[in-house]
Amino acid sequence: MVAQASKEGLTWFQDARFGMFVHWGLYSLLGRGEWAMHWEQIPVDEYEQLASQFNPEKFNAQEWVRLAADAGQKYLIITSRHHDGFSMFDTQLSEYKITNTAFGRDPLAELADACAQNGQVKLGFYISLLDWHHPAYRFRKESGLEWDDYISFLHGQVRELCTNYGEVCSFWFDGDWPRQAFTEENAYFEPGGSFEYEQLYGIIRDLQPNAVIQNNRHAEPLPGEDVQGFEQDLPGENTAGFNIDEVYEMPIEVCMTINDHWGIHFEDHNHKSTRQLVHNLVRSASLGGNYLLNMGPDAQGEILPIHARRLREMGTWLKLNGESLYGTRAGVIVPTQEMVSTRKREVHYCHILEYISDCVRLKGVPEKVTKARLLRDGTALPIQWKEKVLEVCIPAELRDPINTVLVLE
Ligand code: GLC
Repeated sequence: MVAQASKEGLTWFQDARFGMFVHWGLYSLLGRGEWAMHWEQIPVDEYEQLASQFNPEKFNAQEWVRLAADAGQKYLIITSRHHDGFSMFDTQLSEYKITNTAFGRDPLAELADACAQNGQVKLGFYISLLDWHHPAYRFRKESGLEWDDYISFLHGQVRELCTNYGEVCSFWFDGDWPRQAFTEENAYFEPGGSFEYEQLYGIIRDLQPNAVIQNNRHAEPLPGEDVQGFEQDLPGENTAGFNIDEVYEMPIEVCMTINDHWGIHFEDHNHKSTRQLVHNLVRSASLGGNYLLNMGPDAQGEILPIHARRLREMGTWLKLNGESLYGTRAGVIVPTQEMVSTRKREVHYCHILEYISDCVRLKGVPEKVTKARLLRDGTALPIQWKEKVLEVCIPAELRDPINTVLVLE
């Protein structure tokens, strides 16, 4: 039996509520998303050429971490190796890695240092289970390698990530999707056997007992997996088509793109507004989930200015209202079109997202509640019980255009 993460790690994770996801790799040069190699059927030897052009001289780990901290994010999860198989760290298990480019540096090590220095933001790693490049994954017939060779590589890389980068808060696996997803066209990335999760997760438990494990399998979490993930959807929703409706009694994490792609896409200008992002963040929290918001930096190593601006604006809102997010759990007040809630023990936070009328009518508020105030500046607001419904009126001039938080005690 695989153990879960330590209680300390699980509590930290749930309290954190907001993280930065980073998809960054050779595909960033192409600017057509991280799946370009597959969608365009680019042959391995041609795709490999990208490594000779990759030199992200503008990468500055401290700036990224400072930005995450300014945004109010408590962790940063970066792609250590995506499906294209290129390692973004100084692995000893492959020559196909960033330290063999003109850049020559290990961005994961620099991020680990920057996180340790900053103290506000922890580091986590995304790891692709599948690999469109590794001969033991994709070219077993041609290379004479075995599935076991791939498993030693994968497990070995996880061991490196557990050992060489200080404290790791989260391991985020991806690429083991339900079998029916494999068609004739993509059969080449079907795994050659089991990923040996017991053994894989065991490595993490031994070396990083506080790290939470999340596996983006789009299915019920297995023993040893600490977090139920939702991709591009709020908990319990499935507009994206690959989530399950069931929400389990465990830590939850929603990951979403800031526009419509994970890896940078030059033609994608569909950036979510700050208001929309804050709403996604608090809607996730109201259902007991973290919000992991993705950035796709460019091939120079820079986070797009428009995304940095959105993050800072979220941070500005959180500076005044963060108490209603960090350390909270799912709300008990019945959500409506206008509002959702979070709670910290006896304190309830109502997030008023839309104004349909001047007064909000709240159902499910514990009867012990006697007071309401604005979180932002403490302004007391009169409350009125009508039967079991609590009514609070918020004058227009006191409303926050992004999200007005009401504290009920
Ligand atoms: C999907 C995609 C992958 C992306 C991930 C992030 O599984 O395959 O490219 O990294 O979602 O959630």
